[in-house]
Amino acid sequence: MRAILVTGKGGVGKTTVTAAIARAISASGKRVLAGEVAAVGDSVSPLGLALGVSNAGLSPVPVAEGLDMVLLDSASGHRAFLGDVLPLRMLADAAMSSEAIRRFLSTAPAFPEMGTLYRMLELMRLRGKGQAYAYDTLVIDLPATGHALALAQIPGALLEILPGGPIVDAVKEGLVTLHDPEKTGAIVVTLPEALPVSESLELLDGIVKHGIAARGIVLNRVPTNPFTAAELDAVAAHFESAPSLLGSRHTGRIVRANEARARLVGHGAPLLELPELPFDDHDPASHPSLLAPHFSPRSST
Ligand SMILES: Nc1ncnc2c1ncn2[C@@H]1O[C@H](COP(=O)(O)OP(=O)(O)O)[C@@H](O)[C@H]1O
Ligand SMILES: [Mg+2]
Repeated sequence: MRAILVTGKGGVGKTTVTAAIARAISASGKRVLAGEVAAVGDSVSPLGLALGVSNAGLSPVPVAEGLDMVLLDSASGHRAFLGDVLPLRMLADAAMSSEAIRRFLSTAPAFPEMGTLYRMLELMRLRGKGQAYAYDTLVIDLPATGHALALAQIPGALLEILPGGPIVDAVKEGLVTLHDPEKTGAIVVTLPEALPVSESLELLDGIVKHGIAARGIVLNRVPTNPFTAAELDAVAAHFESAPSLLGSRHTGRIVRANEARARLVGHGAPLLELPELPFDDHDPASHPSLLAPHFSPRSST
């Protein structure tokens, strides 16, 4: 696929999953660009942290053999867009240095998304040596706000405001790629709890309605379940009358994870489960253990 859009609510593991997918695809011999939609003034890049890169910027930087990463901001997209529309790059730079134009571009409806989309399409079209694409696949970590939907909604809004010409053709070509299920797919990341599952089912609906193929659901942080179904029933029934017993909280999570799984199957997108890992959030050294190609979870105490 040319583009994989990773989406879901904040805190569900989008960034972690984006980094893992990017590493997995590049390990299969493809050239991969992992991208993160960045807002102006962001000082840290969570995706950079997950990939172990400290110099993430608006141009791709190398992460590993066959894997680069980049920050996608709407302003670079607007600059590239103006650069295509205006006859001289100088004029585009001058336009972008105008505070008024920048403010207009970032507040007009659909313009921030358009900038991000245009930048993404530009990176997708980038040529490497010869005629080949510089990157076989882009894996994009989308922000928690309904950005994935905004990206898909762009066609109508965009074509209304654009003059005809090469830029419209380029955007149209990009949108065809975006709506081609062989080339672009969304991955919805969610957690094994009732509310996140409801939200991700809505998101899934929205994605499909807007013509983007949902290619997978990742159920992240699934608690370990040492029980058979019969044992779990017996244990859970026991905890109902003694809810404060040690282990009742974990058993409750297992029961809710089973309910979550049942609600997520049958939506046309394969379900992938990832386990809750013993994992120290405040110890950056524990992140690579999750993301390394042959990861080995640390033992928990
Ligand atoms: N399977 C997992 N097990 C344990 N911790 C996880 C797992 N997946 C993600 N995390 C942790 O949860 C937090 C949120 O993950 P992150 O990928 O940043 O989510 P998002 O990008 O959706 O906000 C991070 O601290 C991450 O290390
Ligand atoms: Mg994130």
